Amino acid sequence: PGSTRFTFRTGRQVPRLGVMLVGWGGNNGTTVTAAVLANKLGLSWMTKTGRKKANYYGSLLQASTVCLGTSPTGDVYVPFRDLLPMVHPNDIIFDGWDISSLNLAEAMRRAEVLDWPLQEQLWPHMEKMRPRPSIYIPEFIAANQEERADNVLRGSMAEQVEQIRRDIRDFKETSGVDKVIVLWTANTERFCDVVPGLNDTADNLLGAIERGLEVSPSTLFAVASILEGCAYINGSPQNTFVPGAVELAAQRRVFICGDDFKSGQTKLKSVLVDFLVGAGLKTTSIVSYNHLGNNDGKNLSAPQQFRSKEISKSNVVDDTVQANPVLY
Ligand SMILES: NC(=O)c1ccc[n+]([C@@H]2O[C@H](COP(=O)([O-])OP(=O)(O)OC[C@H]3O[C@@H](n4cnc5c(N)ncnc54)[C@H](O)[C@@H]3O)[C@@H](O)[C@H]2O)c1
Repeated sequence: PGSTRFTFRTGRQVPRLGVMLVGWGGNNGTTVTAAVLANKLGLSWMTKTGRKKANYYGSLLQASTVCLGTSPTGDVYVPFRDLLPMVHPNDIIFDGWDISSLNLAEAMRRAEVLDWPLQEQLWPHMEKMRPRPSIYIPEFIAANQEERADNVLRGSMAEQVEQIRRDIRDFKETSGVDKVIVLWTANTERFCDVVPGLNDTADNLLGAIERGLEVSPSTLFAVASILEGCAYINGSPQNTFVPGAVELAAQRRVFICGDDFKSGQTKLKSVLVDFLVGAGLKTTSIVSYNHLGNNDGKNLSAPQQFRSKEISKSNVVDDTVQANPVLY
């Protein structure tokens, strides 16, 4: 047994926050941008079941509460968002990249997620937003994505990483934000081999980029963000964080995190498996469907990309299975 002393420092100055989405023109990218705008503008729209108004239900910070303790009159709850000074989502400024050049209004229509009367109100605002050209290495995503790839960077791998770094600096300067977070919400890539000498250390990874060897676009974005001192979140299942990227982030003291969003059905599925196994019932199969993910589903129809998803999705039930050797 040992003991470790931690000192926590709480930053209470709320920064002006910019979020740059890789895959901004996708279903997630357009929907989150539209949802924040709809809240900011206080929009409401008619649907077949009545008038809906934008809200943050489903947001852990904005819609849930935390129990502070018990008072003589009962438990005391406060909104999660009031525990500490935090950025309000309405104040986030979005920017980003996509290999598809459609502006965000057209991309929102292509995604087919939001009700049309809402899209109509958002259109003039979203139309002005256009994704920056991105890094496209065809072998990492499904071949069927090629038809939308009309907004791509040219030049060597190192030059493209330089351009992404310039984009981050340009966004910071022109928008006046204090802090930028980069979030990968682009297509699922195939897994990258971890090879000694290629991506096992920070120096080898930087060397591999200089020489244009096998480095995935998501790792290139992670490296560019780390070098700019920006936290990087991975929303897809592939192994972006090869050991060299992790070492680079540690050296530069930059936060990196994420292994697929696991936001909705994945979370529910893992809770249900835990419940079933806990009740002595052996689960033999888990079936998922891809909600609102038409283009994501298309990308995942290719075996190598599906393999990344399969590994990430089965990870969430591994603990339950391993902890129950009698059943399994
Ligand atoms: N939709 C969900 O509910 C959900 C849940 C968990 C995880 N995810 C993961 O999030 C990611 C995005 O999901 P989605 O439904 O928005 O998919 P999507 O296919 O609609 O969007 C992905 C976008 O990324 C763009 N893109 C591809 N490669 C790029 C690159 N190198 N640089 C910049 N842009 C690039 C595509 O043009 C597309 O616009 C997928 O990996 C998916 O598996 C999605």
